[in-house]
Amino acid sequence: MLNYLIIFIIAYLLGNISTSYIIARRLAGVDIRTQGSGNAGSTNVLRTLGKKAGLMTFVGDLLKGIIAVLLAGIIAKYIGLDPLTAKYIAVVGVVSGHNWPAFLGFKGGKGVATSLGSMIAVNPIMALSCFLVFLIIVYITKYVSLGSVLSISLSPVIMIFSQNTKGVLVTLFLTLSVIYTHRENIKRLINKTERKIGEKK
Ligand code: G3P
Repeated sequence: MLNYLIIFIIAYLLGNISTSYIIARRLAGVDIRTQGSGNAGSTNVLRTLGKKAGLMTFVGDLLKGIIAVLLAGIIAKYIGLDPLTAKYIAVVGVVSGHNWPAFLGFKGGKGVATSLGSMIAVNPIMALSCFLVFLIIVYITKYVSLGSVLSISLSPVIMIFSQNTKGVLVTLFLTLSVIYTHRENIKRLINKTERKIGEKK
C-alpha cells in the first residue's frame, strides 16, 4: 500500500511541472494564469503567445503524462508491484498534480493533454481513438473545450467494452475531473459565449 502511495506522490510531483507556466514565464515573463482564460494549458498559451508556444505546451504536458506512467511501470517492476495498478495510480497522480499543483497554489490546468499522454502509455488504442474524436470535434466546431469534454467522456465507455474494471474507474476519474475543470467552459458553451480556438476575447 505504501509503495503505491509513493508511486502516486512521484506522479503527482511530476504533474506539478507546469509546461504552460514555465513557457509563459520564459517567453513573455507572465503568469499564464493571469492571461486569457486564466487556464494553465496549451489552449490558453496558443491564445496568448501563439501557435509555437501552444504546441510546445501541448507536447510538454502530453510527455509529462507518458513519462509518469512509464516511470511507474519501471518502479513497479523493480519493487514487485502489479505494473498495471501502478500505472493507473500514476495516471491519477500526474493528472491531479497537473490540475491541482501544490507548488503553484493548487491552481493548475484542466488536465486534457496530461490525461491523453498518461492514457497513451497505458492503452494507446483507446487514447488515440479519443484523440481522433477530439480532433474531429474541434475541426468541426472550433471549440477545444467541447472536444475535450466529449472525447474524454468516451474513454470509460470504451473501457467498459474492454471489461477492464480498473480502467473504467480511472477513465471515470479522468472524465469527472475534465468535466469539473471545464465547468465554466460548459456554462459558456450553453450560453454560446465560449471562445473558439485561437480567439483572444
Ligand atoms: O484543455 C483546455 C481547453 O479545453 C479549454 O481551455 O483556455 O479555453 O479554458 P480554455
